[in-house]
Amino acid sequence: MTNKMAKLILENSEIEMPIYSPSMGPDVIDISKLYTQAGVFTYDPGFTSTAACDSSITFIDGEKGELLHRGYPIEQLAEQSHYLEVCYLLLYGVLPTVLELDNFENLVTRHTMLHEQMMHFFRGFRRDAHPMAVMTGVVGAMSAFYHDSLEVNDPFQRQVASIRLIAKMPTIAAMAFKYNSGQPFMYPRNDLDYASNFLQMCFAVPAEDYQVNPILSRAMDRIFTLHADHEQNASTSTVRLASSSGANPFACIAAGIACLWGPAHGGANQACLEILKEIGSVERIPEFIARAKDKNDPFRLMGFGHRVYKNFDPRAQILKKSADEVLDLLGVQGNPALQVARELEKVALADPYFQEKKLFPNVDFYSGIILEAIGFPMSMFTPIFAVARTVGWVSQWKEMVGDPKLKIGRPRQLYIGEKKRAYLNIKDR
Ligand code: SDX
Repeated sequence: MTNKMAKLILENSEIEMPIYSPSMGPDVIDISKLYTQAGVFTYDPGFTSTAACDSSITFIDGEKGELLHRGYPIEQLAEQSHYLEVCYLLLYGVLPTVLELDNFENLVTRHTMLHEQMMHFFRGFRRDAHPMAVMTGVVGAMSAFYHDSLEVNDPFQRQVASIRLIAKMPTIAAMAFKYNSGQPFMYPRNDLDYASNFLQMCFAVPAEDYQVNPILSRAMDRIFTLHADHEQNASTSTVRLASSSGANPFACIAAGIACLWGPAHGGANQACLEILKEIGSVERIPEFIARAKDKNDPFRLMGFGHRVYKNFDPRAQILKKSADEVLDLLGVQGNPALQVARELEKVALADPYFQEKKLFPNVDFYSGIILEAIGFPMSMFTPIFAVARTVGWVSQWKEMVGDPKLKIGRPRQLYIGEKKRAYLNIKDR
């Protein structure tokens, strides 16, 4: 495993810890025995320097702006592959043969329907409930319907739960969208590919035929592919921590959806478009750049910055091209949000503050513009991110629960509270 060691010199002891070298990326120092050997913890709120697991699914190089899924660069997958093939790659570690892909696509297609009784769950929400609230609730409730795929120690049940989640997430998201609008739910159709099926479940109505626009389904598929997995981000780490207790897969993925909802994470695509619309015109960009730089103003330019990428987010580069294509083809080049986005990117990247803080557009910066052009309301942007990321969460969950070394996650703390003291009777307070 290793012959490299790190030495920690403390006041009255010296500790040696093994160093492991990865296939790509930085070495890691194994500190797992530090507390038992030296009685100290490491301290790393936000885990900026902590590898919480070993994984073979996704590799990110933040300096180079590199993103690989099972070794394949995201640029090649976005250009030459499609979402369900990327799902197969993330789940099983290899690109499928024609037969394997055909069987996988059939399997997913035939699991897209929800248990009919789950329709009643939607009726319990207010019509104006945020679709992320609905998805968190309905996905968690899948534990109450799919009892034959809850046993995480059974590889077959893990496989069934994985397919059910990947297949049913678009149906649940589309139903949340329909429920918001008061329109009837549309059932999935087995004659459509994954992205086209999602679009028809969102935009078709029973009253007339719906033709999927191939340009929109291609753009939708690319958005899914670009959001599929991203190493140990906040929501994936949430799924891993929840899974470490042995919780069932639906509960763990519901926890991931809840975490993704935050504006610092998956909620940024909705927040970003809201800001682009609030800016409204290129003339107002300096005002918002100033606010983003003002330490006394909590305002942040959503869609900018990333915990890992410190030069550019390769996904944003690809989405920027897609935004041009989609808006050109839809003839909505005049989209004010896109005009503001393009100018804002130029101004921000030339600004010393953004250069010094290494802030540049991330995946959420352009995705909202494309989704809006396709016809989605902003409230559906993060649910679409959740649909796409389900395969990443499921793949990381499968990798973890299948690992014989699995232990429940239990971080410690730097306690800064009161020292031990005696209870004070209320009459003496
Ligand atoms: C996603 O982890 C992943 O992989 C996530 C994701 C995935 O695929 O799963 O890539 C998806 O979540 C993308 C990120 C979407 N979030 C946003 O767009 C929200 C806006 N961005 C920020 O909140 C922030 O940049 C983070 C949360 C993304 C990253 O935070 P960091 O790296 O911890 O940086 P930080 O918050 O410590 O900020 C560093 C400095 C600070 O200034 P100082 O305190 O050092 O003076 O940069 C400033 C921040 O004030 N800063 C910003 C800013 N982001 C950071 N200032 C203005 N606007 C911003 N957007």
